[in-house]
Amino acid sequence: MIFVTRKATFSAAHRLYNPTFTDEQNEAVFDKCNNPNGHGHNYVLEVTVKGLPDAKTGYVIDLKQLKDILNVVIIDRVDHKHLNYDVDFLRGIIPTVENLCVMFWRELESRLPSGELHRIRLYESDQNVADYYGAPVTIPTYDLSSERRNEPSYV
Ligand code: NI
Repeated sequence: MIFVTRKATFSAAHRLYNPTFTDEQNEAVFDKCNNPNGHGHNYVLEVTVKGLPDAKTGYVIDLKQLKDILNVVIIDRVDHKHLNYDVDFLRGIIPTVENLCVMFWRELESRLPSGELHRIRLYESDQNVADYYGAPVTIPTYDLSSERRNEPSYV
């Protein structure tokens, strides 16, 4: 088995909070990431596909094709977006790096022309990274329609 990886980057904003928590609970659990108007990250996404090289091409998957698929299926939909509001397939989930890995997997899995999705690795920063290998997991969704955002204050 051969494992090939394509890397992509995107920048996006998010806010980590649970609408069923009190303000104090959100503050305690999510701390700075609970900032009401969000904050940004420069994400690095690595998608690993496994398989055997094709006899005629030598490819597990054509990495140019994987790049194009990644752009259409993930990057173009999340880059320069607010992950809490702007992305249809992320609606209602808490956009932690863990949950993003799972949701990206679900978008990508059936889109590969060859090989099999092996790992989604997502760096939220140089220090924080999550790996997902496709094990079954339930991601709860929340009603975020009642979300409050602080009005900006002008001095
Ligand atoms: Ni964050």
